Parts: sequence; structure tokens; C-alpha cells
Amino acid sequence: MAAHDKIIETRTRTLVAGPYFNAGARRKTSPGGSLQAARGRTHEARLCEALGLAQAIGLEVVAEQIVPLTQIRPATFLGKGNVFEIAALVSAENIDLVVMDCALSPVQQRNLEKAFAAKVIDRTGLILEIFGRRARTREGALQVELAHLAYQKSRLVRSWTHLERQRGGFGFLGGPGETQIEADRRQIEERMTRIERELDGVKRTRGLHRKTRRAVPYPIVALVGYTNAGKSTLFNRLTEAGVVAEDMLFATLDPTLRRVARPHGGQVILSDTVGFISGLPTMLIKAFRATLEEVLEADLILHVRDIAHEDAEAQRGDVEAILTGLGIVPANDHRLMEVWNKCDLLDEASIAAAARTGTRQSSHGKPVIVSALTGQGLENLSAAIEARLGRIIFDVTLDPANGAGLNWLYENTEIMSKNIGADGAVHVTVRVPPDRAEPLRRRFSGAVSKTSPKQNDWLVFQPTSRRRPLLNRSYSKRPA
Ligand code: GTP
Repeated sequence: MAAHDKIIETRTRTLVAGPYFNAGARRKTSPGGSLQAARGRTHEARLCEALGLAQAIGLEVVAEQIVPLTQIRPATFLGKGNVFEIAALVSAENIDLVVMDCALSPVQQRNLEKAFAAKVIDRTGLILEIFGRRARTREGALQVELAHLAYQKSRLVRSWTHLERQRGGFGFLGGPGETQIEADRRQIEERMTRIERELDGVKRTRGLHRKTRRAVPYPIVALVGYTNAGKSTLFNRLTEAGVVAEDMLFATLDPTLRRVARPHGGQVILSDTVGFISGLPTMLIKAFRATLEEVLEADLILHVRDIAHEDAEAQRGDVEAILTGLGIVPANDHRLMEVWNKCDLLDEASIAAAARTGTRQSSHGKPVIVSALTGQGLENLSAAIEARLGRIIFDVTLDPANGAGLNWLYENTEIMSKNIGADGAVHVTVRVPPDRAEPLRRRFSGAVSKTSPKQNDWLVFQPTSRRRPLLNRSYSKRPA
């Protein structure tokens, strides 16, 4: 979306404020409930994450402040003294935007804007901006726009709310202006109806694609994890596909798929996903979920964790809660595997301790300890992936006239090699997931199963084609 580029150029002077409860202070429910979700993190870590979010859309953070809370004031969220202090800072530093790392009601937002004489966005507003910038698929963009419009609609009480119909991403950072609330509401509702209609169409087409994709005999491996855990870096290591890996939160919103060739001719599909964050507002869950379609169908889900992060455990809880919401229940979903990344940041004793406690802590098997940056542990990872994918390899010999049999193999198995013998017989080595072994045996009674090839060949795969989308039928094309 062209409008999204503007914000990077603008480099709005921004203050990031973290209004967090003091330990022991009475918590009151706030709209959106993000305070609850953030329990267990240090204030510094929470502010650091909020700073990362602000920087992810190119805001120029010129000041940051933790604001200790004892209670939430209905009118301004913050107490009078804090409001006064921040207003002084805003004026002294020429700040145009205050990011409040909490959920504000429209009234609180409006009052703070008046008091600070600057724009104010809350955590939901900020995440919407990020999603708006990062959504790459049509469906992702539409879902984000829908969430954004719903958010705008809920805040039409503001007298200065300015609505640009085409914008879809910058309702809070655009210039203020007077508008008629009713006209705006109508415009928003009309636009929401149009988007919902368009989404239906997009979903139908996607459903068709997915149906075909499900028939793909290659395993799908999805990388999920907390934002900044190192998913893109690991993904790049595994595919060398050059997917963006930046020290920016949300470098990837929509799942990124790569077909990766194996040395024996087989393939695997890797899927990179957007990073999870704590306290994702309810109204954003659909948009986020739209970015995680691939994960639901994955054969193996790698939960990449920044094991050196001081909030690693809280992050794990957040990711698992969201996965559970998607129907992937960590305790009993055998597709999950934990990858403990950034081990280069730990000393040897900590790594050894982590390795010892790893199995006990993880609810789904022994975690693999790696550094996507240095490459440490990647061989173990590849071996673990191969072991978890549990493919069975068969040698099948076909009569040269059995074209239908060969077609069946191309469509239902992963072909690793194919040779024509001196007698004209076709010798094919194929790999199948366990549930396809029986149909194969039934069809080819002479099929012989073999042990898996060298376990760690996984890491020497080369991308079959850079940036080539996953196409229907592409798997059934015969190798040259
Ligand atoms: P999102 O797209 O925000 O979800 O992030 P991500 O999980 O894809 O993280 P990304 O790969 O972009 O990495 C985030 C930062 O961590 C980058 O600065 C990486 O260089 C760094 N990083 C990734 N893996 C490692 C690692 O093994 N060790 C160290 N020290 N840094 C790493």
C-alpha cells in the first residue's frame, strides 16, 4: 500500500510511554485487557518491545518513559501528575506522537491528545499500523483494513477524527481534521461491506488452492515464534531464499512459502510466519490468523524461541496461547517441536543446563538448541526434522508400459530418483508420509521399503527457485 511508505519518510518524532502497574498495585480491567496478558514481564522488557514495535514502522523514537501506575483514571488513564510530566516532555522535545503501550478508550485518547497537544495512539493502533504495512497478500491486507475500520468506527466520538477512505492503514497518524461523524460512520460501514464481499471471494479462491496444495506429497514445515525470535534468520539459513531478516519486529507478516529441493530429488515446503506478540487485541486476531493459514496444515511446526531473552518463558506462554486459539494445542499436538535459538548469546554452562532441563520443560519432545546466526546446532535440527517427519522410502520397479503407475507415483509421492534399467524397467525411489505407505503398497505389491537416507542431508537443500510461489500441480511436473 503506497500510503504506508509515507510514515517511514515522515519519521514522526515519537515518545513511547509504558504505563505499567507497580508490583502489588491493584489492577483494574482496561479495555483490551493487555495488562493481564503482559503479566510476568519486566517493565523494561515490555517497554523494549513497544520501542521495537514503534521502530518497526520507522517512527523516530526521541524519548521513552516507564510511567508507574497505581490505578487507571477513567478520563486520562494516567494520573494528573504523569499527564503533566509527559506534556512537558512532549513540548520540550517537539514530539508529534505519543505511543501509549496500553489499551486506551476513545475518551482517554482524546483527553490525552488535548493534554499533550500531540497525537496519541495506543497499542492496538500501533499494531494495526504495523499489520497494515506488512500485509503482503490480498487477504492479509483486506483483513487488516477491516480490523482498522472496525477500530476507527469504535472511535468516531473524537471531534477531529479524519477519515481517508483509501488509506486503510494510517487513521491515527494522518492529519487531524473536522468531519461529520455520521458521514464517516456510513463511509466506514460501506467500505466494510465491500471488503467483506471481496474477502469472501478471496477466501473461496484460496480454499481451492489449499485443496490442491493438500494433495502435495511434500511435507510442510512451518516456523512460528515470538517476534524477533529469529524465524526469518533460520528460514534463510534453511532456504537461502533471501527473505527479509532485519532487527525489526514484524519483518514478516504474511506466511512466506518456499519450496526447497532435497539432494535426492524430493522437496520440502518451508513456511515463515509473522511474529507473535503479547496481548494481541481481540479485534486483530482474525487479521493475524489470516497470516497463519499455512501453519494449520503443516506436517511439522517449529516453535522458534529466543532462549537468551529474559522473558523467554512468558513469550513461550503467549505463543502457545495463540496457537491454542488457532486449534493447535501444544500439549497434544505432535507436530510441534521447539527450537531454542540464539544459543550463541549464552555461555557453555547455560547451554548445558538448558539442554539438561530442555526435555523436562518442553511439553512436546526434546527441544533442539541452535544459533541461526552462527549455524551452531543446525545439523541436529535437520536430523530432528527428518526424524519427526518420519517419511518412509520405497523402491518401486515399473514395467515401461505402466505410464499410469508412474503418473500415480508423481502425483502421490515424493520422487527422489528415477532410472531406466538395461531391460527398460523403470526404477523409482520415492518417499511418502506414513499414511500413504499403505496405498502405495496396495498399488505396487513389489514396492520395497528402505531406511531413511543420511539424516542430516536436509540442510544442504538448495532452493528450487527463488521467490517462486507455491503453484498447484508444480509438484507433478517431471524432472528434466
Ligand atoms: P519477526 O519477523 O519480527 O517475527 O522476527 P523473526 O523471528 O523473524 O526474527 P529475525 O530472524 O528477523 O531476527 C531478529 C533479530 O535477531 C535479528 O537482528 C537477527 O540477526 C537476530 N538473530 C536471529 N537469530 C540469531 C541467533 O541465533 N543469535 C543471535 N545472536 N542473533 C540472532
